[in-house]
Amino acid sequence: MLYSFNNFPILNLFGPKGTGKSQMAMSLSCLFGQQQTPFNIHNGTKPGLAEHVQQFINAFAWIDEYKNNIEYDKIETLKSIYDAIGRNRLNFEKGKKKETTQVNSAVILSGQEMPTADVALFSRMIFLQFHKSEYSQQEKTDYDLLKVMEKEGLSHLTSSLIAHRKYFEENFYSTFTAVFSDMSSELEHSGIEDRILKSFCTILAAFKTIHDKLSIPIDYDDLRAIAIKAITDQNSQITKSNEISMFWETIEALFDENILIDKWHFKVDSCTELNLKSGKIILDPPVNVLKLKFGTIYKAYATHSKRSGQSVLPSTTLKYYLEINPAFLGVERATRFSIKEFSTEEGKVVEKNQITTAYTFNYEKLNINLVRIPSKENTINEITSSTGLPSKPNKQDQLPF
Ligand SMILES: Nc1ncnc2c1ncn2[C@@H]1O[C@H](COP(=O)(O)OP(=O)(O)O)[C@@H](O)[C@H]1O
Ligand SMILES: [Mg+2]
Repeated sequence: MLYSFNNFPILNLFGPKGTGKSQMAMSLSCLFGQQQTPFNIHNGTKPGLAEHVQQFINAFAWIDEYKNNIEYDKIETLKSIYDAIGRNRLNFEKGKKKETTQVNSAVILSGQEMPTADVALFSRMIFLQFHKSEYSQQEKTDYDLLKVMEKEGLSHLTSSLIAHRKYFEENFYSTFTAVFSDMSSELEHSGIEDRILKSFCTILAAFKTIHDKLSIPIDYDDLRAIAIKAITDQNSQITKSNEISMFWETIEALFDENILIDKWHFKVDSCTELNLKSGKIILDPPVNVLKLKFGTIYKAYATHSKRSGQSVLPSTTLKYYLEINPAFLGVERATRFSIKEFSTEEGKVVEKNQITTAYTFNYEKLNINLVRIPSKENTINEITSSTGLPSKPNKQDQLPF
């Protein structure tokens, strides 16, 4: 059976500072000639990113300093690299002709943040974690030796691989089939995303195809064990990210069903400052901030999720993930929430207030919708409630306020 590989995963190097990510990318770049200078995705422009990727053919382009708060467009560009699609642009020299930049190369993306801003990006990556920052004397000597070799380039290693190209072409696909079937049964009950499994199997199969021809001090079974651990790790990160997005989706759904009430359970305000537990912060220019009552919201989320058979994140886990979300601003000490309710005792609508702590987020960065645009019906509703008629939460079909 012949597989066609239309996609090319991005190699992601993730870990704290000083764990050797950049050095590895540099060494790898020497396999294709001169050592590369990375593109800094945090400071660089969007067209610059596409240009950088386009510069390389049959090698790899290295992008460094990935952070989850990079612009949405850059994340989209990274995602499309997986499908070997570049970025649309207008060529002014050719009379504004629309062009798409090319992707003819693999991409290495390194950084200190796990790329989970968009699960669809994360699943397009081969996720490698770096944690080692101390080296033995032998390791240091080996490292220095490698760096000296790199000065002359490492393309002699690449050409020793290219020598087996024909053999590789003839044997890779059948090896891939065997490796994929072995790994699929090994990880059968682990709910692994197909895309991740395929990405790792491609590497395993490439190694298995060629390692007899080379002298490499690692054998297939070692690499297979490393791959199983890496696949399982990456997949569990994806499951967690999915659960977090389920949390936000549930919040949106509960708002649509009027179970969560604007201004009472949460609110979105344009803020110029926040009095956080960690201290006061100034927001200049003002930011649309989502403030939510964590306790009440958590209860509603847990009840809803249980009822609909979804898994429920424990409150501490959810708190942890919300706090590391790039949109998270902090916990506000005293936020005022209010609701207008019909009081049977007083026979009229009264306003109830509560001042409590709130989790605050940069609303624009969350990419969710918890704001309703006032419409005519809304205004009518407002008038009705101010005349003293009961203002029970609306059920579907009616616009709430
Ligand atoms: N494989 C290695 N063996 C020995 N020393 C290493 C290795 N990788 C990195 N180092 C040492 O660690 C330092 C930091 O590595 P670097 O790649 O700049 O880290 P990062 O990009 O993760 O912040 C290097 O300058 C080097 O001295
Ligand atoms: Mg670095």
